[in-house]
Amino acid sequence: MELYDNNPTLDLNKEQVEETRQGDVFFKEQMLKKTEGSHKKFYIESYGCQMNFSDSEIVAAILSDMGYEPTREMELADLILVNTCSIREKAEDTVRKRLRVFDKLKEKNKGMLIGVLGCMAERMKHTLLEEEKLVDIVLGPDAYRDLPNLIATAEDGDKGINVFLSREETYSDINPVRLDNNGVSAFVTIMRGCDNMCSFCVVPFTRGRERSRDLFSIIAECHELFGRGYKEVTLLGQNVDSYKWKNPENEQTVDFGDLLEAVAHVSPNLRVRFSTSHPKDISDKVLYTMAAHENICKYIHLPVQSGSSRILKKMNRTYDRAWYMQKIDRIMEIMPDCAISSDVICGFCTETEEDHQDTLSVMKHSDYSMSYMFFYSERPGTLAERKFEDDIPEELKKRRLEEVIRLQNQLSYQHNLRDIGKTFKVLVEKVSKRSEEELAGRNSQNKMIVFPRADVQIGDYVYVKVTDCTQATLRGELVSI
Ligand code: SAH
Ligand code: SF4
Ligand code: F3S
Repeated sequence: MELYDNNPTLDLNKEQVEETRQGDVFFKEQMLKKTEGSHKKFYIESYGCQMNFSDSEIVAAILSDMGYEPTREMELADLILVNTCSIREKAEDTVRKRLRVFDKLKEKNKGMLIGVLGCMAERMKHTLLEEEKLVDIVLGPDAYRDLPNLIATAEDGDKGINVFLSREETYSDINPVRLDNNGVSAFVTIMRGCDNMCSFCVVPFTRGRERSRDLFSIIAECHELFGRGYKEVTLLGQNVDSYKWKNPENEQTVDFGDLLEAVAHVSPNLRVRFSTSHPKDISDKVLYTMAAHENICKYIHLPVQSGSSRILKKMNRTYDRAWYMQKIDRIMEIMPDCAISSDVICGFCTETEEDHQDTLSVMKHSDYSMSYMFFYSERPGTLAERKFEDDIPEELKKRRLEEVIRLQNQLSYQHNLRDIGKTFKVLVEKVSKRSEEELAGRNSQNKMIVFPRADVQIGDYVYVKVTDCTQATLRGELVSI
């Protein structure tokens, strides 16, 4: 209103002013719609580990610089991307099924481009283009900066492929566009690749050599997230405990303990989580740093894979059963309130009943709050595929897996039962799936707790006293402290 009132060249009465204003707003809306419409749209689906989800946010940033906008409706997309996982055969099968769905869309909309990103792109390289005729772009995890070139190539009607693995790329200067996010919790990648060569694992081949991201860019990203209202960061890497970065200013080497300490200082109200730890690398320094900071969550994902020293040796995990159990004891000694979770593989090459029993007993000793459990899936090119026979029949693998799952369910339930009566600080993340009247968030130990909504907001810290539990969730009531 002021604008018109103070403009001497426009001699308008009140109604005319209102009309012009409305016309102006209408015009702006039309213009916005027009520019929105002229932006190309991309649709991205991610599979596999958290690192892949984090990478999709880097890809989204690169696309947004090109003027692309994200869409949740694949029918509206000019570009469909699928960020893939190769860890087990089933993961690749899922992606192939999704590609059939995208192919159907492309048959209707010839201008649409389809790109395969991530580990399956890296593993299969050109073969993927031969097998999947409607795929236009194949892009490995270290080549995302090349996406604009490959899109241009594909728009010209050629196939675009870049599966170059780098020794340096960490995308440290790219500010990720947060996708499908609750605005409370974000992933921050701190390193890429893996040098461990576990004999069953395809990751060193799909993600290349291990390299750590520059400390300052990590801290800057965490500050920026906190400034935007985020309350939790999860530092990501295949093996976070081997983080190592040399500060060019003073030639000092920063390790994971130092990094954790620095991130913990961003704000006492920013929670810090990390994943994944390798039992051989997690140090006392890291454990003491965790214990010293309330905002570093008391939760460690420490995959055991197997409880048998003989199998661990074959897996090339570089620790044995006794060493692993000692590590668990050390964690509990330094942080008695720490929760530990694991990954377990059943039916690895030559696994006997005795080896399997060893796995069950390590699980009991470790008192895991949760585990991800799999049966062994042979992956092309891995050490195990080249050296050992995949000799455990599928039925036996599955029976052992069922036993492992049954035990973990009991352990999780008992773990949760012990929390009844305790009060936890919870970061509120979302409305509960079951009821609009309830909210859900995690405690430091990474357990989901559901409680009545009251006037609490998503992103708040609240105190909840646990009153009940299932094997998967705790329930409780708000208390003031
Ligand atoms: N870097 C992490 C996890 C990598 S992959 C770590 O070292 O712990 C996640 C999990 O998938 C692994 O921990 C392992 O339990 C499982 N996994 C990897 N390769 C597998 C295979 N060939 N068959 C079945 N499970 C596998
Ligand atoms: Fe794979 Fe082992 Fe590296 Fe984990 S540490 S990504 S299991 S090779
Ligand atoms: Fe899968 Fe690659 Fe992660 S193989 S588990 S997406 S590193």
